[in-house]
Amino acid sequence: MSFLETLNVRCINELALREKRVFLRTDFNFPTDLQGKVLDMDRLDRCVPTIRYAIDHNARLIIASHFGRPSGAKDVEYTLEPFAAKLAELLDMDIYFFEDCYGMGALQMVKDLKPGQILVLENLRFNEDEKKNSTAFARELAKMCDVYINDAFGVSHRRDASIVSLPKFVDTRGAGLSFKDEVEQLAGLVSLQRGDGFYAVIGGTRAEEKIGIIRPLLEIADKILLGGAIANLFLAAKGYALGGQNFDKEKLLLAENILKSAKARNVEIVLPADCVTAESVNSTETVVCDTDKVREGMRILDIGPKSLKLFESELKDCKTLFWSGSMGLYELERFAQGSAGLARLVAASGFRKIAGGGDTAFVIKKAGLAESFDMISTGGSAALEFLKNGGMLPGIEALK
Ligand code: 3PG
Repeated sequence: MSFLETLNVRCINELALREKRVFLRTDFNFPTDLQGKVLDMDRLDRCVPTIRYAIDHNARLIIASHFGRPSGAKDVEYTLEPFAAKLAELLDMDIYFFEDCYGMGALQMVKDLKPGQILVLENLRFNEDEKKNSTAFARELAKMCDVYINDAFGVSHRRDASIVSLPKFVDTRGAGLSFKDEVEQLAGLVSLQRGDGFYAVIGGTRAEEKIGIIRPLLEIADKILLGGAIANLFLAAKGYALGGQNFDKEKLLLAENILKSAKARNVEIVLPADCVTAESVNSTETVVCDTDKVREGMRILDIGPKSLKLFESELKDCKTLFWSGSMGLYELERFAQGSAGLARLVAASGFRKIAGGGDTAFVIKKAGLAESFDMISTGGSAALEFLKNGGMLPGIEALK
């Protein structure tokens, strides 16, 4: 029995789709560079099998997603229109696009949709009700469909209206093919216990969000290696000055407590030994120094070569690695070397390798190493939440 079967969650290939209006929630939140240019559309490719399955089974397919974090109103910077065009190119077929994600106009477009045709709706987050998980908004979305499919694992840790409320208003609901695949593979990690050689590398920018996962990780991981913003928080908790960078007091306290708990449990938390610093993100002049010697006013923007060596030796006894989050500001070449170096050393190792998240997937793909990984999940935070909650996410719960 598959993991989703044990939860009573069905998959798209178990549902009747013929001529039905199928609402497919995807995650088109692609990684972008600092100017907002999309770097990689892996998440689009990952939805293609589900999309093809739906249209091959004569569904009237309605695709909806978020992109970025717009303020809850229309913002051209975050429109999904170019992605609809890209999908049309990929599938070599005409695809309709509508400038809103619900309302009379969208309903009319859905009504006109013939079996086997696709309509892409505008960014769900152009409406603040999506993030507010408004029931009224979810009911409006539900008016458009007979079947709800979630193929957006990467956002299934969010209690957004289209993830948790909408499916409850649609009688027939289930998981997309990519969603199912990700859940089934990650479910294998949930049963891991201390002593199984499970290591985690956590990086990325959202330190405040990621710190919440470190404590639950102490229950299953034997070693946790940190890079990116979260590593800085832990270095600061250990008393490093880090060029005078300021941290939230509450988060520092949390990091201090986690360090104490890790020590008590004999879980090693490995922090970078050196870093690449610059006066600002725009500065092309960089200084590599030990993490305890960051000059006043300098910003840490990547891990350095000593850290990579340290990480390599610390990963020696690893049996299964979960990696989520870049080691630095990977969007700029001069701060991307730590992430690329880590991708290379992990790819060359013999342990099981699982990576998660749009940025991590991009770093690995850019280094041409995707094939060396056993799995690359579309979701970084979602995968971490999944592990933290013993295999459950709001978006999975809603599909039951
Ligand atoms: C992601 O990229 O992590 C998901 O799409 C979720 O996006 P969010 O963090 O803006 O909710």
